[in-house]
Formats: sequence, structure tokens, C-alpha cells
Amino acid sequence: MKPTISPSILNCDIGDLRGQLKLIESADLAHVDVMDNHFVPNLSWGLPVVESVVQSGILPVDAHLMIEDPDRWAPAYAEAGCASVTFHAEAATAPLRLARELHAKGARAGLALRPATDIAPFVDILSEFDMILVMTVEPGFGGQSFIDSMIPKIRRTREAINASGLEVSIQVDGGISRATIELAAEAGADNFVAGSAVFKAEDAYAEVEALRELALKHCH
Ligand code: DX5
Ligand code: ZN
Repeated sequence: MKPTISPSILNCDIGDLRGQLKLIESADLAHVDVMDNHFVPNLSWGLPVVESVVQSGILPVDAHLMIEDPDRWAPAYAEAGCASVTFHAEAATAPLRLARELHAKGARAGLALRPATDIAPFVDILSEFDMILVMTVEPGFGGQSFIDSMIPKIRRTREAINASGLEVSIQVDGGISRATIELAAEAGADNFVAGSAVFKAEDAYAEVEALRELALKHCH
């Protein structure tokens, strides 16, 4: 699968949202992290901010919901026009039903796994998802270090997807930079979230392109 880059706007200058989105225009998606201070020990923003990112029309929105009870809250993000809505396996009561509901509302559905959550229980329902998000840090904050021990999980997830003959994307999120992206790409990830690597770079545009080039070297 061709690598795609989704910069996370979590730690961008939110007062200049439009300007910041313009900086990453060459990316494939804008990754927007929703945190409720319960599922993760941090609070970011909710639907109104996500709606305004969608309405800016600058990039398709990849919503990452780090919230409790996604069964209740996630469908509104699909209705708001997010291209992709990812919820956590640990938080959902009925992940399969929720994925179908997101599809019915016109969004792609993603299933996110915290570092200690295995892919094995979800192997039989992979076909219900467009994307599996393998968290490469504990969710909650930007700027953390990539957890190397997630590499075998990325590899196992890619093997399970291939064995089922599916075309499901694998997203990695947390600590992705020029130093780590190749490891993740080689293991089978094809969508890369990068927050600090992009927004702390002198030239965000060039950083997106540099990350894409590195991932392309391992394109499967
Ligand atoms: C963390 C969020 C990430 C975060 C990534 O829980 O899901 O999307 O913004 O930031 P970096 O790339 O700095 O690790
Ligand atoms: Zn995220």
C-alpha cells in the first residue's frame, strides 16, 4: 500500500488553525485527536473543533477518538464529515456494530489498540475496518518516544490482514519521526501520524515530504 502521512494537529498553534492546516496541505489527512480526560488523562477538544477542521476544507479529517463510550459519541464525527473515524477497542462495547454505523454514515472506520492490547481478538473482524491503529505510545500526549516493542504487533497485524486477503490500512501513532518511520513501514504500517516531528520542524511541508520519502523505501 502506498504510504500516507497524517500530521497530528494536537500540539499545533490552535489559535491559527487555518494557517497551521495550510502548512501541512501536502499531507494526505489531518489527524485530529479527541481526548475526554477519562479514557486518557488529557483533554483536547470535541466535535465543534473537529467540525471546523472539516469545514476548512483543507484536508480530509482523520479523527482519533481517545474517549470513553465511543458507541455513543463516534457516529456524530462521521456525520460531521470526517473521512475516517477511529475509536479504541478498549472503550467500545460493540466495535463491530459501531464500525457498521460509521460506514453507514459515510466514514471509514478505524480500530485503535493501546500498546498492551493485542490484535488477536480482532483478527476475525478485520474485514469490518478500513484501518487498524497500532498505538506506538500510550495515548494521551504528543512528544513521547516511540515504543520499539510495538514492531512485532505491527508485523502480526500486517500478516493477519494479508492472510485474509484484505486491504486494511495500518496506522501508527506516537513518536513517529525520521528516526522511527522506516522501522514501522518495514513492519507493515502504511499510514503515519506525526505530531511533533512535523509541527516542531522548521519547514512542516518539507518534513511531511521527507517522512513520505522514507516510508516509500519500504512500500510493500
Ligand atoms: C497521542 C496522540 C498522537 C499525538 C502524536 O495520544 O494520539 O496523535 O499527537 O504526537 P507525536 O507525533 O508527537 O508522538
Ligand atoms: Zn492520535
